[in-house]
Amino acid sequence: MTASNTLLTAWKAAQARLKTGRIDSPAIDARLLLEAASGASRMDILTDPYRVITDDQLSAYETMVERRLRREPVSRIIGKKGFWKIMLNVTPDVLSPRPDTETLMDVAMLAFSRNEAFEAIDLGTGSGAILLALLAERPAAKGVGTDISSEALAVAKENAANLDLNDRAVFLRTEWAAGFGDASFDLVLSNPPYIPTDHIATLDPEVRDHDPHLALDGGPDGLQAYRDLAPEVKRILKPLGVFAVEIGWDQGPQVKALFEAAGFTDVKIIKDLGERDRVITNGPDPRTNPIPKD
Ligand SMILES: C[S@@+](CC[C@H](N)C(=O)[O-])C[C@H]1O[C@@H](n2cnc3c(N)ncnc32)[C@H](O)[C@@H]1O
Repeated sequence: MTASNTLLTAWKAAQARLKTGRIDSPAIDARLLLEAASGASRMDILTDPYRVITDDQLSAYETMVERRLRREPVSRIIGKKGFWKIMLNVTPDVLSPRPDTETLMDVAMLAFSRNEAFEAIDLGTGSGAILLALLAERPAAKGVGTDISSEALAVAKENAANLDLNDRAVFLRTEWAAGFGDASFDLVLSNPPYIPTDHIATLDPEVRDHDPHLALDGGPDGLQAYRDLAPEVKRILKPLGVFAVEIGWDQGPQVKALFEAAGFTDVKIIKDLGERDRVITNGPDPRTNPIPKD
């Protein structure tokens, strides 16, 4: 990579190194890192590939590629992650938001149309991803994000400010919904920790070594958060409200039973685009209802 001095040659050399290092999606990762190191946009790289990059930019790029080869996720290296239609800052204190969570967003978008005024809560908000993606698309809505990590809440608040959503988003440190009154919210969302404790050591290094374990650890069977959440969700949700929680692909029947035991009827398991169980909700199923075009 030392002889590389254009966007194209640097990108190609980095791709080859990441491929040799058995990194998934080497072309995309190499491009995202190149954008961060050089200041070039994706369009610049495609339309102006012979643009010269400086020695300093190349050196910064090589450092980033080295970090990726040590299995640090791209989002952690560049400090940013796109989710739904927004860009978020991410730090070691927050889970890097996942595409998996977009199934939960599909349910939320279907539950309330664009101009409806409603109150939402995101339990275990981390970077604020779910709440902020929702508020960005529902301009009459307001919301609360809770977390027990004050470091995560600081990141969420910064993201709200960057997205100009801080007048409609409040972030509070509490155990799930503790402190909120009964029947307070129209929409309750959560992507809680759901990995069984013993399974964490077997995860990819990108997750095991870089996501906070507070965001991953679901207790011995992975279901502890749902046991705590189900009665709390029932308590804080308005009678005609909608809830949706993300689940691990093999947890559908157990989590559905926990929400039924908490008093919900019409509880559904929603599949993701890979046909795996992903969300438990009492709301509409985006796979059988058209998403409103708004
Ligand atoms: C899987 S992460 C989800 C983060 C974010 N909502 C997302 O989807 O990207 C779970 C979050 O729940 C938080 N958390 C864990 N236990 C909690 C509790 N008892 N009360 C509130 N938040 C909790 C963690 O700190 C973490 O930010």
